[in-house]
Amino acid sequence: MLKREHQNPLIQTPSRGFPKAVAVIGAGTIGPDISYYLLSTIPGLSLTLVDLSEESLERAKERISGYVKKGLKRKKLTQNQAERVTHNITYTLDYESISGCDWVLEAATENVDLKRKIFKQVESIISPQTLITSNTSSLPASLIFADLQYKQRSAITHFFAPAFSNPAVEVVGWEGGDDTLVDQLRWIFSATGKVPLVAADVLCFMLDRIFDNWCNEAGYLLDQGVTAQEVDSVASEFVFAGPFCVLNIANGNPIIIETNTFQAQEEGNHYLPAPIFSSVSKWNTLLPGETIDVDVSKRDLIRDRLLGVLFSQTVDIIDNEIASSNDLELGCRIALGFKKGPFELMQDMGTTEVDRILTVFSVDRPGMPVPKKSINDYLNFYRHILVDDLKGCKIITIRRPDALNALHDQMNDEILSVIERFENDPDVRGFILTGYGTRAFCAGADIGRFPSMLGNSDEAAQYSRECSRLLRHIDGMSKPVVAAINGLALGGGFELAMRCHSLIALKEAWFQLPEITLGIVPGIGAMVVPYRKWPHAADLFHGMVINAQKMSSEEALKIGVLDGIADSYHELIEASIDRINTLSSEMKAISDQPVEIGEMPPIKPQSASGDLLSKEVIAIMESAIADAAQKTTLEEALEVGYIAFGASACTAAAREGICAFQERRRPDYSLTG
Ligand code: COA
Repeated sequence: MLKREHQNPLIQTPSRGFPKAVAVIGAGTIGPDISYYLLSTIPGLSLTLVDLSEESLERAKERISGYVKKGLKRKKLTQNQAERVTHNITYTLDYESISGCDWVLEAATENVDLKRKIFKQVESIISPQTLITSNTSSLPASLIFADLQYKQRSAITHFFAPAFSNPAVEVVGWEGGDDTLVDQLRWIFSATGKVPLVAADVLCFMLDRIFDNWCNEAGYLLDQGVTAQEVDSVASEFVFAGPFCVLNIANGNPIIIETNTFQAQEEGNHYLPAPIFSSVSKWNTLLPGETIDVDVSKRDLIRDRLLGVLFSQTVDIIDNEIASSNDLELGCRIALGFKKGPFELMQDMGTTEVDRILTVFSVDRPGMPVPKKSINDYLNFYRHILVDDLKGCKIITIRRPDALNALHDQMNDEILSVIERFENDPDVRGFILTGYGTRAFCAGADIGRFPSMLGNSDEAAQYSRECSRLLRHIDGMSKPVVAAINGLALGGGFELAMRCHSLIALKEAWFQLPEITLGIVPGIGAMVVPYRKWPHAADLFHGMVINAQKMSSEEALKIGVLDGIADSYHELIEASIDRINTLSSEMKAISDQPVEIGEMPPIKPQSASGDLLSKEVIAIMESAIADAAQKTTLEEALEVGYIAFGASACTAAAREGICAFQERRRPDYSLTG
């Protein structure tokens, strides 16, 4: 069940396609949120929201119309989407009205008997082909679907709050269900902007094992003379909101009592809920981001215990094949709000420290899972990419949906390691690089890594060189690499794509070199490579580099940057595979020869959207582009770019631009020059 034929869900051809009519049962909190997500992302969908209470339906209607207003105001929703959400939904008390639906999504209270009762009623109305999924955070499919007449159409789809914006959805198949359903659901979610994570059909699946036990351990810590505020404050090193803060927001105490009681019954008394959960309704604690001073000995106690339970659950999930390491790592970040996934934390802390924490934890909490192999063995997987085999090609999918697939050195190293491993394998004809989901191929270099380089030209230039190792390797390859551009390709993302031996894009994909809007220059090839590969379009590239002008797929095709345009993700991958077949005989290296780029037209320090840009950084760019064009080897020309990136990282404009991005405001270059 866990191992899917394709890791990237969009590679496969869907058997059913998008649903046309969905019924959501339950108008509490999550039902309306799921309804809003489905209606805003699936064109032509009609949705029926069913509940037993008129009042709940009224509240759901208000909630959804509030989302529409907010979405329009923040430009997250188009007018078209808003109309769909408003007009394609029926709020009803009448179960009979779901008869024509092709998917029934149950989102009622977490209660086995209630869910079974609902399914009985639902099955008496719908056709045997209609898909049934349940939104539950902990109840296994084998329990809630046990009485279904047609079990093969059922699976779990566990959404995370807020379900319209949290991208994570756990998808759980089970032994009674048709296994292809899991892939069908993964495809639907992935094609609509969600990130499906596959988990085994066990109590609490994958992520609630982490979350519930993290919170439960926080409860036990209160017996050790620490306060909820102290626990949340120490936890803020690892999560955006501490366990007690989240329990307050989610009214989560009863959930911990229920699920940990279940887990104790199945797996042992060490999982019993901390007794304090039965006597407290709201915790006196901090808001997200708030911290207080915590005495060092208390801090160490809290830290060890929280990390102990996190690592113990992590190894248990892997040892029992409840989920894959990369889904667990990603899920902890995007669904549960961890700043780093558990494996990255382990990696950063080092195995000696992780062993110490787990040893202390096993003494304090006997019975809790301990690792079954060395910690290093748990860390050996690709964290940022997925790798698939299709028709003799390796498809490498960049998967960092929480940062629009932004690149950093570790991700580059992972891509490079796949290429190096298979480039001499006669069964592999070539490589396809693509991005996860339908929005982004790659939003460029990870801006989060830049602040530490500001003011240090050598370090910044060296970072560029290191990030270029992958690109330099591609330059020298004899096996083709095709960029399958599934969405926006910005900055370093475009620089990576342009080094591939061929580029194919989705119709709606677009390209931009927005570095100048951050007060820096593009450091890994954009001031060099496009001029050598497509010299006839030099003016257009000046506009892109210096003014951050965007380029559409159609424009890119016209000037020869793209070799093809596709209408769907599936077509994109197929076209890329075809391209690998033809490319093998016509691979061309990027020219070492100096290139004539002509006189650069005077360019105003103003972005395409009219914002003022940094004159100082534009001057660095103009000189680097001209200088690199004259170099007699590609290597020397690229070096000009690395050094120019280092120089730009020392400007006041870079400091302003990068801070502004992180503070989500417009940069003001009038103050920096
Ligand atoms: N590096 C790191 N994180 C990035 C990123 C990058 N290059 N591009 C996007 N992200 C992150 C955002 O910070 C945000 O994270 P958050 O939700 O934790 O705040 C998340 O990805 C989604 O992006 P967001 O900006 O909220 O989406 P949007 O639809 O409002 O805007 C873009 C999309 C692409 C226009 C915008 O993200 C952007 O300008 N990104 C930077 C592009 C860039 O300058 N690239 C070159 C880098 S050298």
